[in-house]
Amino acid sequence: MKLLFVCLGNICRSPMAEGIMNERIKKHGLLWTVDSAGTERYHVGERPDPRAIAQCRLHGIDIASKRARQISRQDFNRFDLLFALATDVQQELVELAPHAASKIHLLLDVLYPGENRSVPDPWYGNEADFAHAYDLIDRACDALVQVYAPR
Ligand code: 4NP
Repeated sequence: MKLLFVCLGNICRSPMAEGIMNERIKKHGLLWTVDSAGTERYHVGERPDPRAIAQCRLHGIDIASKRARQISRQDFNRFDLLFALATDVQQELVELAPHAASKIHLLLDVLYPGENRSVPDPWYGNEADFAHAYDLIDRACDALVQVYAPR
């Protein structure tokens, strides 16, 4: 199974999700691959935000080699499941690829079904905002394993 996490810039939330899920894949021995992308192109080619790198490092996860990229048309075919980190991102993905709507999910639906919750954008925030985003994503990744991994 191929998973894609998507946020706006691909420098804060979705790179953390990619790093955390890669750790879970190893831990559980899953045959999954994971990647991340942004809907916007402002930060293409950049490393994750230093605050996202630091937050992951606190948990032993290294995301420093990730480089931001923008979502492409092919991504909607190449990936089995696309998880938007926020409702605005989910809407944009569905507009970009209505034919792929059944693959496009809101990440926090796995924790809070039907509540339409976003991981708050920590870009203008502080370390506590990054820690909060990390915690939500961390719990969502555990829940994804519970829901989608074969037993
Ligand atoms: P991300 O955070 O979507 O979690 O990577 C953002 C990073 C940059 C911007 C917005 C959100 N920006 O407007 O540049």
